[in-house]
Amino acid sequence: MRRACVTGHPVAHSRSPLLHGYWLKTLGLEGSYGREDVPPEEARDFYRHLSAHGYVGCNVTIPNKETAFAALDEADETARALGAANTLWVEGGKLCGSNTDGYGFLANLDACAQGWDKGRGEVVVLGAGGASRAIIHALVTRGFGRVHLANRTLSRAEAVAAPYGDTVRPCGLADVSALLPQAELLVNCTSLGMKGSDPLDLDLAPLPDHAVVTDIVYVPLMTPLLEAAQARGLRVVDGLGMLLHQGVPGFERWFGVRPEVTQELRDLLVKDITG
Ligand code: ATR
Repeated sequence: MRRACVTGHPVAHSRSPLLHGYWLKTLGLEGSYGREDVPPEEARDFYRHLSAHGYVGCNVTIPNKETAFAALDEADETARALGAANTLWVEGGKLCGSNTDGYGFLANLDACAQGWDKGRGEVVVLGAGGASRAIIHALVTRGFGRVHLANRTLSRAEAVAAPYGDTVRPCGLADVSALLPQAELLVNCTSLGMKGSDPLDLDLAPLPDHAVVTDIVYVPLMTPLLEAAQARGLRVVDGLGMLLHQGVPGFERWFGVRPEVTQELRDLLVKDITG
């Protein structure tokens, strides 16, 4: 039986077992997907001996994505660009890895906001953590030529933007309002709006009417930002789809079948989130 799991520290909150378990069951595959709490100091050793632990592969979540990348024998182009891996598999005795966060981000928009990337117009991304890094890389790879990266701590935005030259322009949060009239896509990659955090305080009035607003936060599903965007008549895409889609390439690697992100799967996760 092929076994995979999600690894991280902590990992008890992860919804990946629900996601992959649904696919295993509905596709009628023999296999399992569990969770392993792997503290950072044990992470390298764990990933180097993934097969010995009985796994054909795993997902990697906070705080182990950089350690997992460093443990790889072979990293794909995306993982190399980000210096972080979230999906590992063993092939011919070698530990291989990718980063599918950016894929999940793009696939979610492709599925939920058809035509969102037609104009390859200006984008405003808020936040400069790991998720932002993956999303910036995905947007540039998709052909977006002007991405504004706003963050509370300017130096972090500068560090994320640095590899992209003029294409990704770092700025502070106070500059965002002035950028909105030209933005076709607004992405929240900060933790603001998450259950228990402050909401993101931003007036969306200056955004063009055709702009799309998306949030990587998915608890709650409709963040105050998305609610404000919807009230403003804009197209909104919640963050749950990114989680669902980022799991697709890993599942295919481990279990040999490309799974689908269906409404039924989404409903299952929504039920779990809303308790
Ligand atoms: P991840 O790796 O999951 O993307 P992270 O590295 O913790 O998460 O990044 C969280 C993001 O939310 C950062 O951009 C952070 O801004 P700083 O780099 O200045 O810390 C942003 N963030 C968190 N709390 C915030 C707040 N109260 N106001 C503005 N930005 C905030």
